[in-house]
Amino acid sequence: MEFKELIQVRRSVRAYDAEPSHEDLEQILKEAQQAPSWKNSQTTRWYVAESPEKREELRQALHAANQKKAVNAALIVSTYVRNIAGFTNGNPDNEVGNGWGAYDLGLHDAYLLLAAKNAGFDTLIMGLRDGEKVREVFSIPEEEEILSVIAIGRGAEEPAMRPRKALEEIAAFA
Ligand SMILES: Cc1cc2nc3c(=O)[nH]c(=O)nc-3n(C[C@H](O)[C@H](O)[C@H](O)COP(=O)(O)O)c2cc1C
Repeated sequence: MEFKELIQVRRSVRAYDAEPSHEDLEQILKEAQQAPSWKNSQTTRWYVAESPEKREELRQALHAANQKKAVNAALIVSTYVRNIAGFTNGNPDNEVGNGWGAYDLGLHDAYLLLAAKNAGFDTLIMGLRDGEKVREVFSIPEEEEILSVIAIGRGAEEPAMRPRKALEEIAAFA
Protein backbone atom coordinates (compact mmCIF):
# COMPACT_ATOMS: atom_id res chain seq x y z
CA MET A 1 0.00 0.00 0.00
CA GLU A 2 1.21 3.53 -0.75
CA PHE A 3 2.42 5.22 2.44
CA LYS A 4 0.01 8.15 2.04
CA GLU A 5 -2.93 5.76 1.70
CA LEU A 6 -1.73 3.67 4.67
CA ILE A 7 -1.79 6.77 6.89
CA GLN A 8 -5.27 7.67 5.62
CA VAL A 9 -6.92 4.27 6.08
CA ARG A 10 -5.52 3.19 9.47
CA ARG A 11 -8.17 3.34 12.21
CA SER A 12 -8.59 2.06 15.74
CA VAL A 13 -10.80 -1.00 15.22
CA ARG A 14 -12.91 -2.36 18.08
CA ALA A 15 -14.27 -5.62 16.55
CA TYR A 16 -12.35 -8.49 14.94
CA ASP A 17 -13.14 -11.75 13.20
CA ALA A 18 -9.71 -13.43 12.84
CA GLU A 19 -6.22 -13.37 14.36
CA PRO A 20 -2.99 -13.03 12.33
CA SER A 21 -0.83 -16.14 11.85
CA HIS A 22 2.40 -16.53 13.82
CA GLU A 23 4.34 -15.76 10.61
CA ASP A 24 2.34 -12.55 10.05
CA LEU A 25 2.99 -11.45 13.64
CA GLU A 26 6.73 -12.10 13.31
CA GLN A 27 6.90 -10.14 10.05
CA ILE A 28 4.97 -7.18 11.53
CA LEU A 29 7.18 -7.06 14.64
CA LYS A 30 10.36 -7.29 12.52
CA GLU A 31 9.18 -4.26 10.54
CA ALA A 32 8.22 -2.40 13.74
CA GLN A 33 11.74 -3.05 15.08
CA GLN A 34 13.06 -0.66 12.43
CA ALA A 35 11.79 2.30 14.48
CA PRO A 36 14.50 4.66 15.77
CA SER A 37 15.38 4.74 19.47
CA TRP A 38 17.61 6.67 21.88
CA LYS A 39 21.23 5.71 21.03
CA ASN A 40 19.68 2.67 19.34
CA SER A 41 19.05 1.32 22.84
CA GLN A 42 15.92 -0.59 21.69
CA THR A 43 14.35 -0.89 25.12
CA THR A 44 10.87 -1.70 23.80
CA ARG A 45 9.65 -5.23 24.63
CA TRP A 46 6.61 -7.04 23.25
CA TYR A 47 4.77 -9.98 24.79
CA VAL A 48 2.48 -11.65 22.28
CA ALA A 49 -0.59 -13.59 23.39
CA GLU A 50 -1.30 -15.95 20.48
CA SER A 51 -2.80 -19.13 21.93
CA PRO A 52 -6.52 -19.04 22.80
CA GLU A 53 -5.63 -19.67 26.48
CA LYS A 54 -3.10 -16.82 26.72
CA ARG A 55 -5.33 -14.42 24.81
CA GLU A 56 -8.21 -15.15 27.17
CA GLU A 57 -5.96 -14.70 30.22
CA LEU A 58 -4.75 -11.33 28.94
CA ARG A 59 -8.23 -10.23 27.86
CA GLN A 60 -9.31 -10.62 31.49
CA ALA A 61 -6.62 -8.08 32.47
CA LEU A 62 -8.19 -5.40 30.27
CA HIS A 63 -10.58 -2.73 31.49
CA ALA A 64 -14.15 -4.12 31.31
CA ALA A 65 -15.04 -1.74 28.47
CA ASN A 66 -12.12 -3.06 26.40
CA GLN A 67 -12.70 -6.78 26.92
CA LYS A 68 -15.39 -7.15 24.28
CA LYS A 69 -13.26 -5.25 21.74
CA ALA A 70 -10.40 -7.74 22.04
CA VAL A 71 -12.16 -10.96 20.96
CA ASN A 72 -10.79 -12.87 17.89
CA ALA A 73 -7.57 -10.83 17.95
CA ALA A 74 -4.00 -11.52 19.02
CA LEU A 75 -2.96 -9.27 21.92
CA ILE A 76 0.45 -7.65 22.29
CA VAL A 77 1.68 -6.12 25.56
CA SER A 78 4.19 -3.35 25.00
CA THR A 79 6.69 -2.38 27.70
CA TYR A 80 10.07 -0.68 27.92
CA VAL A 81 13.06 -1.41 30.15
CA ARG A 82 13.46 1.54 32.54
CA ASN A 83 16.61 3.62 33.17
CA ILE A 84 18.37 2.93 29.85
CA ALA A 85 16.98 5.20 27.11
CA GLY A 86 17.88 8.77 28.16
CA PHE A 87 20.36 7.55 30.79
CA THR A 88 24.18 7.37 30.97
CA ASN A 89 25.74 5.24 33.71
CA GLY A 90 22.40 5.11 35.48
CA ASN A 91 21.95 8.91 35.52
CA PRO A 92 19.31 10.73 33.48
CA ASP A 93 20.76 12.77 30.60
CA ASN A 94 18.08 15.43 31.02
CA GLU A 95 14.80 16.27 32.69
CA VAL A 96 12.78 13.83 30.58
CA GLY A 97 14.23 10.76 32.31
CA ASN A 98 12.22 7.62 31.56
CA GLY A 99 9.99 9.69 29.29
CA TRP A 100 12.51 8.72 26.59
CA GLY A 101 11.81 5.02 27.07
CA ALA A 102 8.10 5.74 26.67
CA TYR A 103 8.88 7.94 23.65
CA ASP A 104 10.81 5.10 21.96
CA LEU A 105 8.08 2.59 22.78
CA GLY A 106 5.50 4.90 21.16
CA LEU A 107 7.61 5.04 18.00
CA HIS A 108 7.91 1.25 17.90
CA ASP A 109 4.17 0.84 18.41
CA ALA A 110 3.39 3.44 15.73
CA TYR A 111 5.51 1.43 13.27
CA LEU A 112 3.72 -1.73 14.47
CA LEU A 113 0.30 -0.22 13.70
CA LEU A 114 1.35 0.81 10.21
CA ALA A 115 3.16 -2.47 9.47
CA ALA A 116 0.01 -4.32 10.57
CA LYS A 117 -2.24 -2.22 8.34
CA ASN A 118 0.13 -2.71 5.42
CA ALA A 119 -0.15 -6.49 5.96
CA GLY A 120 -3.97 -6.31 5.97
CA PHE A 121 -4.59 -6.23 9.73
CA ASP A 122 -6.26 -3.70 11.98
CA THR A 123 -5.22 -2.70 15.48
CA LEU A 124 -6.39 -1.12 18.72
CA ILE A 125 -4.06 0.36 21.33
CA MET A 126 -5.57 -0.08 24.79
CA GLY A 127 -4.22 2.04 27.64
CA LEU A 128 -7.11 1.03 29.89
CA ARG A 129 -5.83 -2.20 31.44
CA ASP A 130 -4.81 -3.52 34.85
CA GLY A 131 -1.01 -3.26 34.79
CA GLU A 132 -0.40 -5.68 37.64
CA LYS A 133 -2.64 -8.36 36.12
CA VAL A 134 -0.91 -7.88 32.76
CA ARG A 135 2.47 -8.28 34.50
CA GLU A 136 1.36 -11.58 36.02
CA VAL A 137 0.10 -13.05 32.75
CA PHE A 138 3.61 -12.91 31.21
CA SER A 139 5.72 -12.70 34.41
CA ILE A 140 7.03 -9.37 33.15
CA PRO A 141 10.10 -8.23 35.17
CA GLU A 142 9.68 -5.23 37.50
CA GLU A 143 12.42 -3.36 35.53
CA GLU A 144 9.93 -2.99 32.70
CA GLU A 145 7.20 -0.34 32.61
CA ILE A 146 4.01 -1.73 31.09
CA LEU A 147 2.24 0.64 28.72
CA SER A 148 -0.42 -0.66 26.38
CA VAL A 149 -2.05 -3.85 25.20
CA ILE A 150 -2.56 -3.83 21.42
CA ALA A 151 -5.24 -5.92 19.71
CA ILE A 152 -4.37 -7.02 16.17
CA GLY A 153 -6.54 -8.95 13.74
CA ARG A 154 -8.79 -8.83 10.70
CA GLY A 155 -11.20 -5.98 11.35
CA ALA A 156 -14.93 -6.71 11.51
CA GLU A 157 -15.98 -3.05 11.30
CA GLU A 158 -15.02 -0.02 9.24
CA PRO A 159 -15.05 2.99 11.56
CA ALA A 160 -15.22 6.48 10.11
CA MET A 161 -12.14 8.67 10.29
CA ARG A 162 -12.01 10.57 13.58
CA PRO A 163 -11.43 14.30 13.21
CA ARG A 164 -8.05 15.88 13.89
CA LYS A 165 -7.41 19.40 15.19
CA ALA A 166 -6.49 22.10 12.69
CA LEU A 167 -2.75 21.97 12.08
CA GLU A 168 -2.39 25.56 13.37
CA GLU A 169 -3.61 24.38 16.79
CA ILE A 170 -0.77 21.93 17.25
CA ALA A 171 2.09 23.18 15.08
CA ALA A 172 3.90 26.51 15.21
CA PHE A 173 5.88 27.77 12.23
CA ALA A 174 8.25 30.72 12.42
C1 LIG B 1 -2.05 5.63 24.22
C2 LIG B 1 -3.43 5.25 23.68
C3 LIG B 1 -4.33 4.61 24.50
C4 LIG B 1 -5.59 4.23 24.02
N1 LIG B 1 -6.43 3.50 24.81
C5 LIG B 1 -7.61 3.06 24.32
C6 LIG B 1 -8.45 2.20 25.08
O1 LIG B 1 -8.14 1.81 26.21
N2 LIG B 1 -9.62 1.79 24.53
C7 LIG B 1 -10.01 2.17 23.27
O2 LIG B 1 -11.08 1.76 22.81
N3 LIG B 1 -9.22 3.00 22.51
C8 LIG B 1 -8.04 3.43 23.00
N4 LIG B 1 -7.20 4.21 22.21
C9 LIG B 1 -7.61 4.56 20.82
C10 LIG B 1 -7.93 6.06 20.64
O3 LIG B 1 -9.19 6.32 21.20
C11 LIG B 1 -7.89 6.41 19.13
O4 LIG B 1 -6.57 6.24 18.66
C12 LIG B 1 -8.34 7.83 18.84
O5 LIG B 1 -9.69 8.03 19.19
C13 LIG B 1 -8.16 8.21 17.37
O6 LIG B 1 -8.85 7.29 16.53
P1 LIG B 1 -8.10 6.51 15.37
O7 LIG B 1 -7.01 5.67 16.01
O8 LIG B 1 -9.12 5.64 14.70
O9 LIG B 1 -7.50 7.52 14.44
C14 LIG B 1 -5.95 4.58 22.68
C15 LIG B 1 -5.03 5.22 21.86
C16 LIG B 1 -3.78 5.55 22.34
C17 LIG B 1 -2.77 6.19 21.39
